[in-house]
Amino acid sequence: MNISHGSVLWFTGLSGAGKTTTASAVLQKLRERGRPAELLDGDELRAVICKGLGFSMEDRFENVRRIAYVANLLSRNGVDVLVSAISPYRAMRDYAREQIPGFAEVYVKCPLHVCEMRDVKGLYAKARSGEIKNFTGVSDPYEEPLQPALTLCTSSAPLEENAQAVLAYLDQKQVRL
Ligand code: PPS
Ligand code: MG
Repeated sequence: MNISHGSVLWFTGLSGAGKTTTASAVLQKLRERGRPAELLDGDELRAVICKGLGFSMEDRFENVRRIAYVANLLSRNGVDVLVSAISPYRAMRDYAREQIPGFAEVYVKCPLHVCEMRDVKGLYAKARSGEIKNFTGVSDPYEEPLQPALTLCTSSAPLEENAQAVLAYLDQKQVRL
């Protein structure tokens, strides 16, 4: 039996930029189309298979390694995979690109001050007060993608438009192998 390969869309961006929200909306639309699809969310996986990992560069890299591994298992069985993880270093996203056939980088772009104003989880306030160390964008780096397959601006475009752009990208690029 020949199972066609799924695509892996890797949503990267600052905390609070809208990675989880946008990827979840895309997930729902793919399922509505009858596609087997899964979401691997960094924040969520840190409670299970990535439990115990912190936010040093090494731990973040390990986090990405594990997520990339699972993404591969799923995609080679025909599942479209949406990954939402800050994955702040270019080197770790390049690693994922090398490991994963059908990888596409999606930059969920939002200015730091807007993420900070949203502060959905109250983490930016804690980062500014020093309660949380190594917080991406505040006290830890975020290396912007240089040539993302797709850039979604969440401060200027509505969720629906961004989700549709991802679906259009999938259709147009025929990422499905
Ligand atoms: S990474 O860098 O890819 O390993 O991060 P990820 O697995 O996506 O986890 C990010 C979520 O962890 C919470 N959090 C932090 N983020 C960044 N820096 C620090 N120090 C930190 N501490 C906790 C935060 O809720 C992130 O979730 P999102 O969805 O990105 O807001
Ligand atoms: Mg999230």
